[in-house]
Amino acid sequence: MAGRTDPRRVALLAGALLWAVASEARAFPAATNYATQCQGCHRASGEGTADIVPRIDGTIGEILARPGGREYLIRVPGVAQAQLDDRELATLLDWVVQRFGGPTAADAAAFLPEEVGRLRRAPLIDVTAARARLFATDVRAGVAAPR
Ligand code: HEC
Repeated sequence: MAGRTDPRRVALLAGALLWAVASEARAFPAATNYATQCQGCHRASGEGTADIVPRIDGTIGEILARPGGREYLIRVPGVAQAQLDDRELATLLDWVVQRFGGPTAADAAAFLPEEVGRLRRAPLIDVTAARARLFATDVRAGVAAPR
């Protein structure tokens, strides 16, 4: 009937509203996502855990400055497999780079959700080899170091 509110419509709207509120509650700021997704291993200070988890404080800026470094940061397993969607992960990476990257990373380009989404679906299997390749390139001289 015109003029009467359909109870199903009310229920649907109430459901949509609840869903919106719940989704909002799930979206945490990057600092919180670092605490829940990264900090257990890399520690709040980014210093890592001796002999097991590498330090990211300081070194992350150096990684980012290298050719292939940006891709490496997205594809390293702890990042690629984080329990965050692509947009949240891109925001988290921006935060991590600003927090631990040092002055050289201050004007780093923002990570894009599409970029993160594409690369994280190919997580690194042999991280040690990928890292060795990364650091085999001398970024300062702009040439590959001899092998
Ligand atoms: C379960 C422990 C663990 C968690 C959680 C974790 N990492 Fe890691 N991370 C590691 C280990 C171990 C390595 C060394 C490479 C490897 O074996 O995967 C590493 C490597 C890295 C590297 C590369 C450092 C280098 O010097 O090559 C970065 C950057 C990084 N992690 C960032 C993060 C971020 C950001 C998060 C959260 C989204 C995260 N990690 C979550 C354990 C973890």
